[in-house]
Amino acid sequence: MSLRHSPAALEAALTRVAHDKIAQDNIAHVDIAYVNGEFTPLHEARVFVLDRGFLFGDGVYEVAAVLDGRLIDNEAHLSRLERSLRELGLSSPLPMARIAELQRELLARSGLREGIVYLQITRGVAEREFGFPSGATPTLVMFTQEKNILASPAAAAGIAVKTVADIRWARRDIKSVALLAQVLAKQAAAAAGCQEAWMIDEAGMVTEGSSSTSFIITRGGAIVTRPNSTAILPGCTRRAVVALAEREGLAIEERAFSIAEALRAAEAFITSASTFVTPVVSIDGQPIGDGRPGAHTKHLRELYIAFARGSA
Ligand code: PDD
Repeated sequence: MSLRHSPAALEAALTRVAHDKIAQDNIAHVDIAYVNGEFTPLHEARVFVLDRGFLFGDGVYEVAAVLDGRLIDNEAHLSRLERSLRELGLSSPLPMARIAELQRELLARSGLREGIVYLQITRGVAEREFGFPSGATPTLVMFTQEKNILASPAAAAGIAVKTVADIRWARRDIKSVALLAQVLAKQAAAAAGCQEAWMIDEAGMVTEGSSSTSFIITRGGAIVTRPNSTAILPGCTRRAVVALAEREGLAIEERAFSIAEALRAAEAFITSASTFVTPVVSIDGQPIGDGRPGAHTKHLRELYIAFARGSA
């Protein structure tokens, strides 16, 4: 089988379409990407249609925050990446240390000061067969996105959450690019005027947000979050926040909680690489606490920002 590049004219048209689409969507992309060994303008970056990431969602990804032009807690993200790869029998095209170098080079070339670095590895390009192909080279793609993490409106005002059934597969601990359930959850949240969806398991307990970890703070002051298991993604921000809270002597309870308990809580918040610690002020239209970002949540956000600056 031959996998040829498109003719130049088609290539140019595709480039124009990609460029217009990015401009239209008003996404603050820095126009550079890394694809399989090459840095290229993002609007020219291409993978083949036979890439297994495209056909099967057969790949994994990571999102690491950038502050002051430096990656935050990146070792935790790369070690989770290694674990995701291992769990799927996927090999990395490069050693992690080399990937970290390339992330830094991408950042330097992009000039990004604040935002995220996105990284994806797929099982590569092969004839469409479900089983693992032999001899395919994994695809590595990276790009950056500009984002106001520190001065985000969501951090100041808090976010509204909508609950949805957790319809995902049973290995949510793997950061797989197969994100359809999360896409539908986030869309349902947006349609209800909310910024995040909290997913509910069959026992009626919160698993996590569609792209974040869920927390509540009880009226007694305990910080509650679901323990890591195959039911949730082990959040890097979660890990850091739990460690910081423990260091402060705050009470942590790693256990599942229901929406009924969340509605009785004093505060609620989410964590993720792209939002740090962000207050939740309502769930399904009902206020949490007094319906405003809580003092403990603000304190945890400040602690995390200090940690992030220190870890960069
Ligand atoms: N999402 N749970 C899910 C389902 C997630 O997708 C994420 C991150 C988290 C938080 O993990 P971390 O603290 O390591 O970012 C929890 C990223 C930001 C994303 O998909 O864009």
